[in-house]
Amino acid sequence: EKGGFEHFMMKEMYEEPKVIRDTFNPRVKNGELVLDNINITKEDIEKLQKIHIVACGTAYHAGVVGKYIIEKLCRISVEVDVASEFRYRDPLITDKELTIIISQSGETLDTLFALREAKKKGSRIVSIVNVVGSSIARSSDDVLYTWAGPEIAVASTKAYNTQLTALYLIALDFGLKKGTISKQEADEILSSLREIPSGIEAILEDKESIQKFAHRHYNAKSIFFIGRSLDYALSMEGSLKLKEISYIHSEAYAGGELKHGTIALIEKGTLVVCPMTQDALFDKMVSNIREVKARGAVVLAITQNRHKEELEKTTDLVLTIPDVDSLVSPVLAVTPLQLFAYYMALEKGCDVDKPRNLAKSVTVE
Ligand code: F6R
Repeated sequence: EKGGFEHFMMKEMYEEPKVIRDTFNPRVKNGELVLDNINITKEDIEKLQKIHIVACGTAYHAGVVGKYIIEKLCRISVEVDVASEFRYRDPLITDKELTIIISQSGETLDTLFALREAKKKGSRIVSIVNVVGSSIARSSDDVLYTWAGPEIAVASTKAYNTQLTALYLIALDFGLKKGTISKQEADEILSSLREIPSGIEAILEDKESIQKFAHRHYNAKSIFFIGRSLDYALSMEGSLKLKEISYIHSEAYAGGELKHGTIALIEKGTLVVCPMTQDALFDKMVSNIREVKARGAVVLAITQNRHKEELEKTTDLVLTIPDVDSLVSPVLAVTPLQLFAYYMALEKGCDVDKPRNLAKSVTVE
């Protein structure tokens, strides 16, 4: 049932190209977006004052990416919350606002109750769910299913890529309806998204360098992930994946926030992982790398091929991903981070598919 792989987690990473295509292809017909089960009209979008995104864990991290892209493409302000905070804080929400709920299982209790809270206050609910007919899907007004198939490994991998795919589709649909992006801009983003699956195939083929790096560094006591904008969102997910399966302490930080305290923790040999896929912020990240290198950090950068040469001078290892556009890079750049967590856990002899203290679906508080 593991299809020749040692772990479900690796099998599921290998399924990423296919499940992204399965989530994407049926929703783009002859160049037009067809979001089945989402019946939000141009008028609905024009009335919207705000969007909330609510989820837990990895799905929450997908939501953080969603905030950046929806705000960019639709010019609507988006608030992202973890469900367990949202549901208990008497959230300010009205019937002119929309709530996007993200959940792989569709059964996470906090997320389900957050949905009910938003609904009670009059918000329309759009959910991005993987399990058909799940509680969250059934309680929503509109559902966009991710077609990731069953995810067995406790650590979520392929579901995240498909949640992002769904969020891009929603952002493009809303942006086109609202008129904040042109058809041509949307087409360009769609063609960038279309390149992602083959990009992931290339990353999976070239995973030895990550494995070797993990072999050298699996004794790390603490690892920092730093990034800016979409790479910050990605860093959160990279950090969670690492801690949950390898039990190595780790934190994700916004690059610009380091010097406000956390840089005090960087000492000789501290491992710092830097996703650098945002061209507009590339130089800012190079400055961050200089700051941590000056304090003795070992830096692993993850960037598009086009930046490889430039970064080799300033970092210890550059992992490259295919030359994808900055806006869609998280869908692709998460895979090396998942592989990194996987190999670190494997080197440490951890139970990759069933990490301690964790359950696949959290249906208790
Ligand atoms: C992390 C992980 C969890 C889930 C979270 C939400 O790898 O799997 O953080 O993402 O428990 O689960 P769903 O998406 O089922 O609501």
